Amino acid sequence: MPKITLEHVTKRWGNFYSVEDLSLVIEDNAFVTLLGPSGCGKTTTLRMIAGLETPTSGRITIGDQVVFDSAKGINVPASQRHVGFLFQNYALWPNMTVYENIAFGLKNITEPRKLTKQEIDERVREAARPVKIAPFFDRYPAELSGGQQQRAAIARTLAPGPKVIFMDEPLSNLDAKLRLEMRYELQRLHVETGSTFVYVTHDQMEAMTLATRICLINNGVLQQYSPPLDVYNKPANVFTADFVGSPSINFVLAKGAQRADGAIELVVFNGRKLVFKPSDPVNMEHWFANRDAALAAKAEAKNAARILPGYVEKGNKDERFSCHISKANDEEFDTTPMAELTNADFILGIRPEFVNIASCNGLAGEIYGVMPTGMESTLKIRVDDWLLTGVVFGAGQFSIGAKVDVSFAGNNIMLFDRASGDRIACGTLELA
Ligand SMILES: Nc1ncnc2c1ncn2[C@@H]1O[C@H](COP(=O)(O)OP(=O)(O)OP(=O)(O)O)[C@@H](O)[C@H]1O
Ligand SMILES: [Mg+2]
Repeated sequence: MPKITLEHVTKRWGNFYSVEDLSLVIEDNAFVTLLGPSGCGKTTTLRMIAGLETPTSGRITIGDQVVFDSAKGINVPASQRHVGFLFQNYALWPNMTVYENIAFGLKNITEPRKLTKQEIDERVREAARPVKIAPFFDRYPAELSGGQQQRAAIARTLAPGPKVIFMDEPLSNLDAKLRLEMRYELQRLHVETGSTFVYVTHDQMEAMTLATRICLINNGVLQQYSPPLDVYNKPANVFTADFVGSPSINFVLAKGAQRADGAIELVVFNGRKLVFKPSDPVNMEHWFANRDAALAAKAEAKNAARILPGYVEKGNKDERFSCHISKANDEEFDTTPMAELTNADFILGIRPEFVNIASCNGLAGEIYGVMPTGMESTLKIRVDDWLLTGVVFGAGQFSIGAKVDVSFAGNNIMLFDRASGDRIACGTLELA
């Protein structure tokens, strides 16, 4: 059973780095989703593993076979990598019926021997069952809806029983309800087939619900590779915190310093005072020293790479992610230049479910907007000029303009370094 390893894989076109120095281990039987904004390099990554795109440099191993190694000149063709694909633009053969489409790959199997007609029939039916496409066996692709075509394409991919299945946004053409149903089917297929799934999506919800591990990419650079709940609760940086979660996380700019007891005193909004208590002790002085050492090491590695033959400067520069700060009267993105930021500048990350509404003992604010959906209500709460998003269970009675007190629940409030965007700690947030 194969495990897939990527070591320092880079793909660039000219000076445009589609994927930069990606190292990743996809464990056997994993369900890994490649997640990230449009153009971040997801499809390119998948195509390189599958053998449809040649990396500029690096090494890829599937099972115990090195399928690509730029240093050794190894490049195993796609047909010999024993993987199944399902593409963003799945193409069924238009001149074949659904049945013939699914059977097509099976007829080409020659190892250990050719399959008999009856064996092919059994495997076509087996592959069609989970996606419920059997009733349409005799139709041509042009006679199917988009969703039915997609299901037929999934069956065609499954039929030869690949040990590794690559899927590139396979559900993008389905309506919301069918999409949700297919998600459950894919989850079951993953368990039933015991195959390794690598799945590309830019839908964070799909990535969260399906994956055993999420690989989050931005501008060709790996941001985090962790189980979904870790990405949600312990995001590596402000980009990951922002990318997963709906409604989005609240970012609050803060200034402050660490006290002798380890807590961090912060000033937010129009001079409101809060205290952040890390769940695990952090020494801020050490944390900043480590950050600077890591930055220096990275710069040094870059300088060392620059003098190597064939080095090309990255044209699509990595920019600092600018957090969206929600305000009542205007929009604000944190675009303060790095040079103006000090070690007293922080960003708080507060998930909407941890914003508590009470009638006393909190930051004085008022209800700015209410969106009840039946099961829960999403609230916008105004504190000074800023807006916080909160989610409460049930359809409570909230009226716009009502005075409320805001407090922060639990120990999953995040503290980020504003200069690097990296997460320093999770902890509790209380009024000073
Ligand atoms: N043949 C090519 N020549 C030049 N640039 C390319 C080529 N193929 C892809 N790119 C660029 O590489 C980047 C990554 O492309 P890729 O298809 O991997 O994105 P993606 O993450 O799959 O995006 P999407 O979610 O929109 O499908 C894009 O900016 C794209 O324009
Ligand atoms: Mg793509």
